Amino acid sequence: MGEVDIEKEHPNVVRMQILGAKVVPATHGLKTLKEAVDSAFNAYVPNADTTLFCIGSVVGPHPFPRMIRDFQSVVGKEAREQILEMTGKLPDHAVACVGGGSNALGLFTGFIDDDVKLHGVEPLGIGTKLGQHAASLTYGEEGIMHGFNSIMLKNEKGEPAPVYSIGSGIDYPSVGPEHAYLHDIGRTIVGTCNDADAVDAFYKLSQLEGIIPALESAHAVAYAMKLAKENPDDTILINLSGRGDKDIDFVVEHHPIPTK
Ligand SMILES: Cc1ncc(COP(=O)(O)O)c(C=O)c1O
Repeated sequence: MGEVDIEKEHPNVVRMQILGAKVVPATHGLKTLKEAVDSAFNAYVPNADTTLFCIGSVVGPHPFPRMIRDFQSVVGKEAREQILEMTGKLPDHAVACVGGGSNALGLFTGFIDDDVKLHGVEPLGIGTKLGQHAASLTYGEEGIMHGFNSIMLKNEKGEPAPVYSIGSGIDYPSVGPEHAYLHDIGRTIVGTCNDADAVDAFYKLSQLEGIIPALESAHAVAYAMKLAKENPDDTILINLSGRGDKDIDFVVEHHPIPTK
């Protein structure tokens, strides 16, 4: 885990340690998600014969993107069953945030053959300039990193560009190759959400529904709130990819709780 994120998501780190994990900080570069992925592959490659699983998103060389998609597809299959049970029909839209793309692809897989619009929401951070966001499909171009070919945010040398988002799990300069494909063939719609709107959605979902979402998931919530305003009669399914417990210390320190 990147050193910066270890501090930002301290409660998650303590939970992992209580469960018996050894958490090793990635201390190079921006010390965030991309560097953690670099380190995971550096640890994996010399031990490939004895290591079965090294990465939690749909990125990296084959078979990781497919493996992680298949694991996360449980979410899509169960969401499909549950929404049919609750509403008697399929949703008009399914919405998920996209970092590497695993929670989105898991959700999308459940609806891939259906007439359901699939929206992937990328982090727009604090602006549209390189370094201010991590909206890889929105602003990127074809490139190779971490052993896979996809759409990537590059610097002037063609290397992975620095990226930023308030959501530690979505500040990644590329996206799983299947996302690039689905976007290319027009099966998915790619949207964006900036930090400010994500924080607003974090508090809105907490205060209106009693659910504290992860900052990553709050990007999907913010996007879906806009989508709902534009399509008031449609049913929208949002994937809450994680709980916000890990983010509460950071959020209240930097974005004070709104008063009514
Ligand atoms: C809660 C949460 N949501 C989303 C993500 C983004 O990952 P992915 O795009 O692979 O779902 C992360 C990554 O750490 C996460 O922690």
